[in-house]
Amino acid sequence: MADSEKGLYILLFSIHGLVRSQNIEMGRNADTGGQVTYVLELAEQLSLRPEVERVDLFTRQIRDKQFSEDYSQPIEPISEKARIVRIPCGGGRYIRKELLWPHLDEFIDKTLKFIKREDLDPYLVHGHYADAGYVAMHLASLFGVPFVFTGHSLGKVKQEKLLEEGLNQEEINRKYHMEDRIHTEDNIVGCADLVVASTQQEVKNQYGKYEHYSVPRYLVNPPGLDIKRFSPYYDEEHTDDMAKQARDTLQVELNRFFITPDKPLILSLSRPDKRKNVASLIQAYGESKELQAIANLAVFLGIRKDILSMEENERDVLIETLLLMDKYDLYGKIAIPKKHDFTHEVPELYCIAASRRGVFVNPALTEPFGLTLLESGACGLPIVATKDGGPEDIIKNCNNGILVDVSDPVNISQAVKKILIDEELWKTYSRNGIDKVRSYYTWSAHIDRYLEKIIDLKSHSIEKQLSIPGTGPVARRMIHLNKIIICDIDNTLTGDPESLKELIALLKKNSRHIGFGVATGRSIDSALEHLAENGIPIPDVIVTSVGTEIYYQNRNNRDNGWSRHIRQKWDKETIRRLMATLPFVKKQDPETEREFKISYYMEPSKDHLAQIHDLLTRNRCRYQLIYSHQKYLDLLPQRASKGKAIRYLSYKWEIPLENFLVAGDSGNDEEMLRGEPHGVVVGNFSKEMDVLRGKRRVYFSPRKYAGGVIDGMSHYKFLES
Ligand code: GLC
Ligand code: MG
Repeated sequence: MADSEKGLYILLFSIHGLVRSQNIEMGRNADTGGQVTYVLELAEQLSLRPEVERVDLFTRQIRDKQFSEDYSQPIEPISEKARIVRIPCGGGRYIRKELLWPHLDEFIDKTLKFIKREDLDPYLVHGHYADAGYVAMHLASLFGVPFVFTGHSLGKVKQEKLLEEGLNQEEINRKYHMEDRIHTEDNIVGCADLVVASTQQEVKNQYGKYEHYSVPRYLVNPPGLDIKRFSPYYDEEHTDDMAKQARDTLQVELNRFFITPDKPLILSLSRPDKRKNVASLIQAYGESKELQAIANLAVFLGIRKDILSMEENERDVLIETLLLMDKYDLYGKIAIPKKHDFTHEVPELYCIAASRRGVFVNPALTEPFGLTLLESGACGLPIVATKDGGPEDIIKNCNNGILVDVSDPVNISQAVKKILIDEELWKTYSRNGIDKVRSYYTWSAHIDRYLEKIIDLKSHSIEKQLSIPGTGPVARRMIHLNKIIICDIDNTLTGDPESLKELIALLKKNSRHIGFGVATGRSIDSALEHLAENGIPIPDVIVTSVGTEIYYQNRNNRDNGWSRHIRQKWDKETIRRLMATLPFVKKQDPETEREFKISYYMEPSKDHLAQIHDLLTRNRCRYQLIYSHQKYLDLLPQRASKGKAIRYLSYKWEIPLENFLVAGDSGNDEEMLRGEPHGVVVGNFSKEMDVLRGKRRVYFSPRKYAGGVIDGMSHYKFLES
């Protein structure tokens, strides 16, 4: 109920950053394709709905002299309720999308901070393309909201194409980071609540290639068409002067080619690309004397100046077209115009063909979507299209033409003929196109289908959450905390069961606004087990393995931002090798070793510590050494430690350090007790803690174990706000 009263807050993600609400730089580079217009339209159109309170389109902030300053504005309005929000990550310079992977965890962290600062309440996150899918997947799980994904293009499909083009796997991985991408896509598909695709074929043939294909639900939701540009052919009212001029120019141009210009017109319009298979159409026409008698053919293949100076694929197609015209002697019957203007002339072209009772043909071997078929349909021009791909959906939804197997040109000519000679059929198809494209392929229909599905999804995903205990939405809890208590486990929380019980009761009573965390040398499994044994409730935050790993509530919610941050310059192998040469350290059990932690036993000795530092520094190792309890020696990445993990938590969740209370007993905790947080040393502390005596904000409690923590809380009046 609360949700619907407040309205939906929808988060869209499209990471690469070359997106702005005005003057889209379409085709500036490989990052600026159809996805940019699509996400902008989606954001704007969603925001127009009364049930939607706000839509934010998150993208990377670019501060780079080679790119417009527009891409550096932190916030840009799209409409009254929609904005572009630019999040910095990986520095300011433009980075092509294939190289953004290492920076995505930073993107997630900064998005969390943004959401907290603006006090927003996510309803759903929707990622576009694999990189944004990764970001959205993590945010969805942190907030416990549905995760929607649109691939736009998928790695496995692209990889096949590249292999076909002759690249080898190694090149593909190097250039496109394909392995990372496909691996991530596999995870995404396995986690998504909903995948939005444009066609049935995309679902089957593209997502079908992924292992977790059957996990998510799919919504086939074709994008909306800018219908205003494609009025019905008989609609003179909406024809402005520009359009009339365009129509006139086109008629003159076409009539140059035709001996009998008034015949019905068979029209085709595509890029000069072999896969578009225009040759089959010309062949079909060339081989049917009957078709030549009843109709003219116009083939539009983009704009050309000098065919011989064109790129190979395009040149081949154009040469073949001209040769076929000659072969079948189609002079006077076929038009192959050299140029046309896309914005004004294309809609008029469909209208001219429709006025002449013609047909539009798309003979492509496979057609992913089929935009021209929709445009043509909207103008009232019936269609004949390939059976493979998007056209199947179009004919199913609109019934405005015939699907054919284009591998045999005879199928094409027969279908075209059928429509041309049957007046009733032509009229039905024409009317259906005009009506059905308008009712099905508009933004408003797109948004209707979208909203219906996500509202349904929401109720479903709440059920799902309640059924798994302990997986509540982490981020929702974390962003509402204003204070947090972090305790070491062994000999700080544990040691005296009586005072522990008392502490637990106190924490429970204040759990609404005060979070509870532990920080330990143990691994996550060992920590969880030990907490359970001692009857300690599951903490909000679990910092394990001496600060090298951070988890929320359970072992599945590991903080990747932290791992990514500390990974830098960590060379475990070298450190292990060097340490093996020292006779006075003994390696701990293999299971104590973690991705970012190697541990030894060592008798206390200042000299030996100095020798270790000397050895590692001389060999240019970056590391952090923690010695505790007079016997444990841990080596960690330079950026890691329990104290640093706490600072990271403060940064990520925007809880000021002075709102942390940190308690410990041994040298393992010393560093995390220094500085801004309120530090508590429990009465049973070990010798290494003496260095903290007299330090600001470090309180030595006379009480032992959990009793010391309770005493520390009252010393700092921590529970009073
Ligand atoms: C825990 C860990 C051990 C580590 C020690 C001190 O006992 O199991 O590997 O050395 O804490 O951090
Ligand atoms: Mg301890």
